[in-house]
Amino acid sequence: METSVHDHNNISFILLFFFLLSLSFSISPPGCEACHAVDKQALLGFKLSITADPSKLLESWIPSTNCCNSWKGVSCNSAGRVVNVTRPGFASDSDFIVDTFMNGTLSPSLGNLSFLQVLDLSNLKNLKGSIPLEFGKLSRLTVMFLDSNQLTGSIPVTFKHLSRLERLFLNNNKISGNIPSSVFGSLQSLTELGLSGNRLVGSIPATIGNLVFLTKLDIHGNILSGSLPTTIGKLKNLKYLDLSENQITGSIPKSIGGLSSLLLLYLNQNQITGSIPSSISGLVSLQFCRISENKLTGSLPPSIGQLPNIQRLILENNKLTGKLPATIGHLLTLTEIYFSNNRFTGKIPPSFGNLQNLQTLDLSRNRLSGELPIQLVKLQNLQTLDLSFNPLELISIPKWIAKLKLFRLILAKTGIRGSLPRWLSSTSISTLDLSDNGLTGRLPPWIGNMTNLALLNLSKNGFHSSIPVEFKNLRRLMDLDLHSNKFSGKLDTIFSKETDDPLGHFNSIDLSDNTFIGPITESILETPAMNSITSLVLSYNPLKGSIPKALGKLSELQVLKLVANGLSGKIPVELGDATQLTTILLSRNKLTGIIPGKVLNLEELKEFDVSDNQLSGKIPPHKARIPASAFFDNPGLCGSPLPPCKRS
Ligand SMILES: *[C@@H]1O[C@H](CO)[C@@H](O)[C@H](O)[C@H]1NC(C)=O
Ligand SMILES: *[C@@H]1O[C@H](CO)[C@@H](O)[C@H](O)[C@H]1NC(C)=O
Ligand SMILES: *[C@@H]1O[C@H](CO)[C@@H](O)[C@H](O)[C@H]1NC(C)=O
Ligand SMILES: *[C@@H]1O[C@H](CO)[C@@H](O)[C@H](O)[C@H]1NC(C)=O
Ligand SMILES: *[C@@H]1O[C@H](CO)[C@@H](O)[C@H](O)[C@H]1NC(C)=O
Repeated sequence: METSVHDHNNISFILLFFFLLSLSFSISPPGCEACHAVDKQALLGFKLSITADPSKLLESWIPSTNCCNSWKGVSCNSAGRVVNVTRPGFASDSDFIVDTFMNGTLSPSLGNLSFLQVLDLSNLKNLKGSIPLEFGKLSRLTVMFLDSNQLTGSIPVTFKHLSRLERLFLNNNKISGNIPSSVFGSLQSLTELGLSGNRLVGSIPATIGNLVFLTKLDIHGNILSGSLPTTIGKLKNLKYLDLSENQITGSIPKSIGGLSSLLLLYLNQNQITGSIPSSISGLVSLQFCRISENKLTGSLPPSIGQLPNIQRLILENNKLTGKLPATIGHLLTLTEIYFSNNRFTGKIPPSFGNLQNLQTLDLSRNRLSGELPIQLVKLQNLQTLDLSFNPLELISIPKWIAKLKLFRLILAKTGIRGSLPRWLSSTSISTLDLSDNGLTGRLPPWIGNMTNLALLNLSKNGFHSSIPVEFKNLRRLMDLDLHSNKFSGKLDTIFSKETDDPLGHFNSIDLSDNTFIGPITESILETPAMNSITSLVLSYNPLKGSIPKALGKLSELQVLKLVANGLSGKIPVELGDATQLTTILLSRNKLTGIIPGKVLNLEELKEFDVSDNQLSGKIPPHKARIPASAFFDNPGLCGSPLPPCKRS
């Protein structure tokens, strides 16, 4: 911002400056050395290897001019030696960030810039080929940014000579091969290393422990295997360690506790086994810890309660066992707990009530049991509470939950019975999932008071009533799942509910396995609430009537399931207008007539089933691979993949 204001106010000054500059060329005063011939040659060699420069980044690199004065992105020392070459793809041009491109390869000639300190050719998107071995000659280099290109080949072993290199970013390329051990043994000045988003294989070399000045190490998104070297614990200055999305095996070394400066630890999406070492308490600076999607076993060490700065603790999708340590209650800085899909047992410790900054508590998909501690009522900053799929046998939702200020309450399969508690009506909950419980009774009229609801999931319960008219007030509701209940009555109230533009247009509706009645009239599909729906599932309801043409107007519809709905009449050809459809399931109805070719040839179609109807005629030729069984039990259908039609 400051720069742009400056630029606007000083355009005339800048013009004057350039005028003077051009004068200075012609008279060539002492102290303004001309570009050294070797350096100019090296830069021109690079320009020569660029096959396309659509953003004109090298336009000013003209052989007859002084590279130190007039070549954009080049700067020299007082002796006319090139020290910086920076032509990154992201350039800020006063008010805008400009995205620029360059096609070509990295010329080995750049290795001749023996005074070079900074080389930034990042984000040019289309630089290809390998990094020349000659770059190892750049012994004065402190910064090398070649990230976000399409470089291939491996990391040159000659990099071991870059003893002054402080920041090396090669991320987001297609670099393959091992991380050369010798390189990391020698890059002793390195403070930041980015190798993420490449195709590196092999293990992380133990020599990484030599890089004692490292503050940032990011190798996520490669194909690294082997275990974490114990030497990693020597990196006392390390603040960011991201090794996620690799294939790292073995266990977390005890030495990790030595990383006393570490703020961020991401080891998620690997194959790490063993237990979390109790030395983890050494990570006294840690704020963000993500070790999810691994194969960790054993129980959480009580020492985990000694992380005085921790904010996010993400351990989901592992095989952790044992009780949740009460010491977690000491972590007053915690804002998020994600422990879903492990094998934790026992009760939730009352000490969790001390986590006054907690915003998310996700303990879903574990084996937790016993009463919820009433101390949790103290979690006044909690926004998301997910205790789903635990054998908690809650019987009813504890009343104190009404005193929290939740946005998301997710208690699927927690043993809740009886009717919906009335206090829900005065909450500002936007996601309510009480699915897979033993709830019974009516959907009460006061549901219409829950005007913040964006997702309502009451599926797999025993509700039996029609949908009250007050349901129309759910102006923000986008996802509705009522499947597998005993709901009855018409669909109109649901489909024509009000919206709160641009919110509240349905994204998904699943009303399957109830006793709703139809017909699905043309007009109820043409309401604002329905106009951007992506998934409509009405199977296993006695709807009757025919398939409305208006379905073809649902331009974002991907999934349509109308199985066993007692539907009759034809499959409307208009259904072929809903071009996003991937799934059409119409089996077990009484549909007659032919299958329209337009429907069967929908571009995105992957799943199609019209079995057990009364369709006839030749199955239209189609590209999608649909099994013969999808057409079975229609006495009049013939042609591939069914047997050929008989000539009549
Ligand atoms: C070269 O780049 C470095 C780091 O960006 C900078 O500090 C230095 O001033 C630049 N040197 C010249 C001569 O522009
Ligand atoms: C630059 O490279 C990109 C990606 O390989 C390619 O799509 C584009 O056509 C190239 N442009 C030129 C001018 O060669
Ligand atoms: C480096 O410079 C020398 C001397 O000018 C020259 O002979 C050589 O070809 C250059 N190397 C490359 C790779 O351009
Ligand atoms: C509702 O809950 C069921 C069972 O817990 C689950 O399978 C389904 O995906 C949920 N639906 C939505 C829309 O979240
Ligand atoms: C629902 O809202 C209406 C209108 O604001 C109010 O009269 C009624 O008492 C509310 N019902 C419940 C159960 O909160």
